[in-house]
Amino acid sequence: MNRQRNLNSTLRNSAPILAALLAVTLAACSPNGADQAADQDADKAAQTTEITLYSGQHESLAKALADGFERDTGIQVRLRAGKDGALANQIIEEGQRSRADVFITEEPGPMGDLARRGLLTPVSDEILAKSAQRFVPAGGSWLPWAARSRVFYYNPELIDEADLPESILDLANPEWKGRFAYAPSGAFRSTTAYLINTIGADATLDWLKAIRENGINEQKNGKVRDSVEAGQHEFGLSNHYYWYIMTRNSDSPEDIVSRVHFLNNEDAGALMLASGAGVLAASGKQTEAMQFLDWLVAADGGQKVVAESSPQFPVNSNVESIYDLPAINTLTFPEFDQAELDNVDEASDLLKQAGII
Ligand SMILES: [Fe+2]
Repeated sequence: MNRQRNLNSTLRNSAPILAALLAVTLAACSPNGADQAADQDADKAAQTTEITLYSGQHESLAKALADGFERDTGIQVRLRAGKDGALANQIIEEGQRSRADVFITEEPGPMGDLARRGLLTPVSDEILAKSAQRFVPAGGSWLPWAARSRVFYYNPELIDEADLPESILDLANPEWKGRFAYAPSGAFRSTTAYLINTIGADATLDWLKAIRENGINEQKNGKVRDSVEAGQHEFGLSNHYYWYIMTRNSDSPEDIVSRVHFLNNEDAGALMLASGAGVLAASGKQTEAMQFLDWLVAADGGQKVVAESSPQFPVNSNVESIYDLPAINTLTFPEFDQAELDNVDEASDLLKQAGII
């Protein structure tokens, strides 16, 4: 009895030392201080009503969504902002240990990549029904919650809208050499993935090489926009919303010279790409994470936030953007399954082979 009490008291006295030793060991296992802090944050999230959101979207939009969800539901959102591809790779590396409960992207590809690897919990039909059905990926592994159109920006002082090519495939022809800008963005990679699926990898590689030869790589979509506006190129390939952001931020929008050209046909240059949201299968917060997705496509929830804080297209047909966008159902663009753009690695390989990235 006495011996037992002594043992208990010894254990009690040594508990703080053991805890300190454990903390040192855990800190030593952690690759760096930032990760450790993130882990501690995530541990805290596990104890309160919080979800951890990894976001590859524009940070201002992701923040507006996180704030809106917190306001409407009382569930706190811990936001980790980054780039689609880097965050997807992080989730793949973290596997079952991933801190992410929800992942939102700019592009469909990284979401499809995670779905193919079985890392996402399928979304219920009830939630998917609130989105635009033409964007819902086969299998319903992730939720489309916003859309962006590939477009041309053109400078009417240098080229008439009527003279723009009808297909981005035409840009491989010598007549366009030195006349247009592009950027190897996520959406350009999606376009590459789409071309692989439709014209084949060999023809896509040939096209990419011709783009590198004929076009000017401005690296960023914003730079494509600004250089066309400044008259450095006749036109450029980009996403529709960067131009609307420029008009919003301009002190004198009436002085803006460049214009957006929606190809309005079934060419790859008119692609409408869905931004995705997925719940990580490894998340211990399935209910709250799905609640975020449900809120994200609700007309008075996330869709209102998208409509008011970004010129990307909302996907709930009951919600209209406050920006002067064409109605999505008045535009023509290719019909395809957004799930099929999961060949992001192959697309990246071709971009490298062509010397674009
Ligand atoms: Fe973007």
